[in-house]
Amino acid sequence: MAPNAMAKPTCVNDYEPLAKDRLPKMVWDYYAAGANDMLTLQDNTRAFLNPICVAPSALQKMAHPDGEEAVSRAVAKFGSAMVLSTYSTTPLETVIAQGGPDCSYWFQLYLYQNRPVSADLIRRAEAAGYRALVLTVDTPMIGRRLPDARNGFHLPKPWRLANFPPETRILTASQRAALAAKATSDVVPGTRVITEDLSNRTDSTLTWKTAIPWLRQVTNLPIVLKGILTRADAELAVAHDVDAIWVSNHAGRQLDTVQATIDALRDVVDGAAGQLEVYCDSGVRTGVDVFRALALGARAVFIGRPALWGLTVDGEAGVRDVLGILQEELETSMALTGCASVADIEPQCLTMTLPSNL
Ligand SMILES: Cc1cc2nc3c(=O)[nH]c(=O)nc-3n(C[C@H](O)[C@H](O)[C@H](O)COP(=O)(O)O)c2cc1C
Repeated sequence: MAPNAMAKPTCVNDYEPLAKDRLPKMVWDYYAAGANDMLTLQDNTRAFLNPICVAPSALQKMAHPDGEEAVSRAVAKFGSAMVLSTYSTTPLETVIAQGGPDCSYWFQLYLYQNRPVSADLIRRAEAAGYRALVLTVDTPMIGRRLPDARNGFHLPKPWRLANFPPETRILTASQRAALAAKATSDVVPGTRVITEDLSNRTDSTLTWKTAIPWLRQVTNLPIVLKGILTRADAELAVAHDVDAIWVSNHAGRQLDTVQATIDALRDVVDGAAGQLEVYCDSGVRTGVDVFRALALGARAVFIGRPALWGLTVDGEAGVRDVLGILQEELETSMALTGCASVADIEPQCLTMTLPSNL
């Protein structure tokens, strides 16, 4: 829906485009402008950037035909951050083009055996304006997802892995031949059972000594490691000069029985020792969950499935609503614990909440 067609503004920011439409440019600029390059003005907004962000999840056009573009618009209006999956069904350039200045876009990476393919994705992400690279480190191979195996999961027509030009060769000839032998008629070439694609393409031999130096060689963007669950790995991330780490168990899709991230968070934050930012996801469903993660030291919290649910139900508006509900619940939690700003949320606040294992 175009902002002008909005029936009733539901938040303060909704009023901005409505007011802009009604005012002569001179008056609008008088109200809107900051000094010089407006750096402080922009920073004011950024300082209040929402700590509730959207995690990378693959294949969003399966949820809604507007897919990643709708999520991008929703996050842009919400003013937080979106991390785009490598396995997006929309090209990374198109997704970021939907955004605005109050939203930050990061690109999620898997590193391929065929490194030029990864380098090319990184160059495109940089050129398009993505501000960080998120290397997912909990997926050297895909977890055992039994429903996917039973369903013979594949990407339905007409969607495709849009970040890869059709001619991209990320499989070796023998891998391609093995997959071709399994092809079924309703599967788009190059997008067969994604679990097999993933396991074949990603480099499962990555180590701290190989992955980080390679990335530093090809990019100046900040590097975030997604999938950290232990204090020891947080310490290694500090030692290897990583910019931030992300506590995640991939929504329970990788190693079954790993601990919940809220239980791992405190140790990881200790390991990071204030040297790098720590983010958290997996299982965040309420503003209270967000509050607890922030209190334990997360700088931002990401949602995966909830964004997909909102997208499915009502496209862009659904994602905005999901983010808005979490935001309102977070604000309620803050008010009830006497926190005037996100920066006031500290471990002490948790003494009045139940332990996480209840
Ligand atoms: C359907 C689905 C697809 C996902 N795809 C990716 C992906 O492409 N890359 C990645 O790093 N994580 C992926 N994830 C994991 C999310 O980034 C995130 O860690 C997780 O969904 C958070 O948990 P939640 O869904 O409980 O909020 C995916 C998760 C789901 C549910």
